[in-house]
Amino acid sequence: MRIAITRERREYERRVACSPDTIRKFKGLGFDVVVEAGAGNGAAMCDEDFAAAGADIAADAAAALANADIVLKVQRPLLAGEGSLDEMALIKQGAIVIGMLGGWQHKDQIAAYVRARVTAFSLEMLPRITRAQSMDVLSSQSNLAGYKAVLDGAAEFGRAFPMMMTAAGTIAPARVIVLGAGVAGLQAIATARRLGAVVTAYDVRPAVKEQVESLGGKFLDVDEGAPADAETAGGYAKEMGEDYRKKQEAALRESLKKQDIAICTALIPGRPAPELISAEMVAEMKQGSVIVDLAVEQGGNCPLSEYGKVVEKHGVRIVGHANVPSRLAVDATAMYAKNLLNFVTLLADGERGAMEIDWTDEIVQGCLLTRDGAPVQRDRENVPPAPAGRQPAAKREAA
Ligand code: NAI
Repeated sequence: MRIAITRERREYERRVACSPDTIRKFKGLGFDVVVEAGAGNGAAMCDEDFAAAGADIAADAAAALANADIVLKVQRPLLAGEGSLDEMALIKQGAIVIGMLGGWQHKDQIAAYVRARVTAFSLEMLPRITRAQSMDVLSSQSNLAGYKAVLDGAAEFGRAFPMMMTAAGTIAPARVIVLGAGVAGLQAIATARRLGAVVTAYDVRPAVKEQVESLGGKFLDVDEGAPADAETAGGYAKEMGEDYRKKQEAALRESLKKQDIAICTALIPGRPAPELISAEMVAEMKQGSVIVDLAVEQGGNCPLSEYGKVVEKHGVRIVGHANVPSRLAVDATAMYAKNLLNFVTLLADGERGAMEIDWTDEIVQGCLLTRDGAPVQRDRENVPPAPAGRQPAAKREAA
């Protein structure tokens, strides 16, 4: 079977869905690999490296996708009218498309997979179980985003991070608050600590308090008797009730007045990001403070953040960079390509260059959007598939 990788054409995207390392491994599994010329340029990987690893280099996307049985993508393929190229029209019927297809946000795209009669896997929907960790694209990319968010914040901050005692005077350490202590947030805490900041963190899931403290952060307790049902069976946060939100707002408001940098990472899968820093709270922050809103693509944890921009409001710089993992395209590509390799290995039939998909596997079911052009119906819309209490395949798939 033939695996194709094309250049990513969406705005702000520098990553690519393969690396020389994964091409070598795909060849070892018996697959042919074809890569569009120039596909790796944004991630400092050149055609010669891909060719040396065993890939054929195709002149353009059409040539790469012709006869491809498996299409590996970073982002969802472009549809007619979305850009310069209708990538979907170039993918052959019956092909398998694997990528971060945005299955929760871009439900309209599913109709395109149905029309094109493809089998589509959206890797952000993988269940967060131990067996899926090596394929977990959210973790591999969020980890880098959390690190980069702190560096982006530091770059906008007009002061140093660590405490410095010099003959010319003492510089106080920067105070950083991290909102949301999932994968990105925990890496942000570790990075800010390494730079010498005093770090506070807050999450709606009380279970993360220990993790925050083990990284040297202080956990902001919003409510001592925090709600026991703050997370789903899959470990994700739920939307909180009005009463809790009021307590959260009061505690955050007080803390933010003392902070220099706020790193916002709070997300609820399939829902708009929760608003945690209101415009009034921004106005009360110290002059020269910085907010880095990693949640900006889901609407932001701060309503004043603007997608793809750095803006200044009330003397506070608000960073809303788009696609933060892509700002570290080399590492993000290497990690993502490895996630893809591990996922394809799960679907592959040993080293015979063929697929042997176990449709009953909960990893497969968790991220399957369409199978041979038939949409897969999920019983609980907007809620990521949880490891426990899942529906059997027969109930979840449409005829
Ligand atoms: P995420 O990106 O969906 O959300 C980021 C963080 O924001 C979460 O910690 C969430 O609790 C928090 N949050 C949501 N609403 C909030 C609010 N109103 N105020 C404050 N914080 C709020 O989360 P991520 O990083 O993808 O992790 C989700 C879960 O998956 C976690 O439980 C994590 O431990 C688990 N996980 C499990 C893995 C596994 O293989 N077993 C691998 C990676 C993550």
